Amino acid sequence: MTHRELRKKFEEFWKSKNHREVPPISLIPQDDSTTLFTGSGMQQLVVYLLGEPHPLGRRLYNIQPCFRSQDILEVGDNRHTTFFEMMGNWSLGDYFKKEQLNWFWDFLTKVLGFEKERLYVTIFEGDPENKLSHDFESKKIWKEIGVGNDHIFSYGPSKNWWSRAGEPAKMPEGEPGGPDSEVFYDFGVKRKIHERSPFRNLPCHPNCDCGRFLEIGNSVFMEYKKTKNGFEELPAKNVDFGGGLERILAALNDEPDIFLSDVYLPIIKALESITLTKYEEAENKQKLRIIADHLKATVFLIKAGIYPSNKERGYYLRRLLRRVAVKIYQLTAKTAEVKELLFVVEKILEIYKHLYFQDKDLTSIAEVIREEIHRFNKTLKKGMTLLLNLNNPAGKKIFDLYQSYGFPKELSEEILRERGLTFSQVEFDKEFEKHRQLSRKLSAGVFRGGLADHSEKTIKYHTATHLLHQALFDVLGESVRQEGSHITGERLRFDFFSLVKPDEEKIKKIEAIINEKIKKELPVYFVFLDREEAFRIGARALFREKYPERVKVYYIGPSLETAYSKEFCGGPHVQNTREIEPIKIFKWEKIGTNIYRIYAGNTKKLEE
Ligand code: SER
Repeated sequence: MTHRELRKKFEEFWKSKNHREVPPISLIPQDDSTTLFTGSGMQQLVVYLLGEPHPLGRRLYNIQPCFRSQDILEVGDNRHTTFFEMMGNWSLGDYFKKEQLNWFWDFLTKVLGFEKERLYVTIFEGDPENKLSHDFESKKIWKEIGVGNDHIFSYGPSKNWWSRAGEPAKMPEGEPGGPDSEVFYDFGVKRKIHERSPFRNLPCHPNCDCGRFLEIGNSVFMEYKKTKNGFEELPAKNVDFGGGLERILAALNDEPDIFLSDVYLPIIKALESITLTKYEEAENKQKLRIIADHLKATVFLIKAGIYPSNKERGYYLRRLLRRVAVKIYQLTAKTAEVKELLFVVEKILEIYKHLYFQDKDLTSIAEVIREEIHRFNKTLKKGMTLLLNLNNPAGKKIFDLYQSYGFPKELSEEILRERGLTFSQVEFDKEFEKHRQLSRKLSAGVFRGGLADHSEKTIKYHTATHLLHQALFDVLGESVRQEGSHITGERLRFDFFSLVKPDEEKIKKIEAIINEKIKKELPVYFVFLDREEAFRIGARALFREKYPERVKVYYIGPSLETAYSKEFCGGPHVQNTREIEPIKIFKWEKIGTNIYRIYAGNTKKLEE
């Protein structure tokens, strides 16, 4: 089956169950300080899962491009990638376990034609420490559906609980989560078990890492919110389903290597031709998979408006592109040619043509890749010179080279070997593990709770952000465009594009307008409107975002006609601007060509 056929079947199925499509959001989540990238389909639905009404109703579905930066080092086997598409459906307080499990099973067996015997299911066995009980209800439903006892497995919170932060113990206050039930496809062939697997001594089962099973869908029963005193029920029982499109495709084609499906194969073939290597040859496989994944992720990240840099999102983009360049160097012993990379990029755009890209996108994507690769090819040479002059190569030194120049161990090893030198692998691995844990911690640390915590402070700053957005238009004119917003309990941060340069005087004026609106004690309301109508009345929208047919618009002022600010937004917000209290802009700076950043809050406290 092709990816286009699969998409069509998925969409038709959920439409036939009265679901409406929510367009996918950008890979840069807006108004959400909890995470750097969109990593799951439910990301845009967090506020609705927590209880806000959704403009499209209570049954939704979509296919969402996702990027998971924490998986960079896992890429290289037959199933892990940093970029993937998540097929999702949601019930916002409408249907629950029974309908969800039955429908998903029907989709797999009746629509896609999976053999029942090849499917295994898992359920949550409870978490006594957090007073969360065994999900016997799902077990009963699976049995009624006809799944045999020997095809149902129970696991604890590390496997059958889902939240954006992971298992119950790792969740920050305010984060929604719940038990889940996964479906696995059995390829029927046992492969090598990963030596780090916690299950390596057990007989094979769905969560075993040997490669026999592949998870193809996860129904999360989002019914809890973490609070200071444990878990509290959400206002409604929700369903959050997600299944990786690439994985379902692999299972459908009974081919465990996802890189052989039509969302990767044209990329792999193009890479074979520019590197003059063969994918079947074991020594090339891992590198070609890394390049294919990273280049695809690169293309999507650039399209989302990210540029390579040394910070946050830009850093990940830089790291991906550098790994691409290094892997090409390893395969060909030559630095990457931009022209050849762009030949591969064209194939990527073709795969997703009319879905996410148009032909014209090639020019802007090419520009970013060209500049970064030129710059890195110079570094690559510098790193090589360093290596060639290193007389006492310690493991730590080789790791530093890996860290700062993107030089992989194998490459350093090879170059040193040619010079008759070696270094301590153990020392290198130790540094590597230290770093891996640190970056895992950092990724996890992103979940400090932002909007998801719905604390009074973040809600206040969210409404203040709307006032700031409009005040920027008042003072700087119509060229203003929101580039990003990040809110914590300490302050708000707002990035914007403007052709008119701000200066001290203008910033003071903007601050005065915001405070005037706060003092006026304006009420804050929302309405559901058709998208076109919302644009017509001048509601502020995000430049790169696609919106569903029906949208929620928050407005500040007694009526929609006279409102000071109107903005496409999910909420939540304060009820009256008086709750915000006086705001101070305590810092502003230029962060790019015509791009500026403002920090503001109730106090002068600077917490970037
Ligand atoms: N949010 C869940 C996941 O990402 C299901 O959509 O697996």
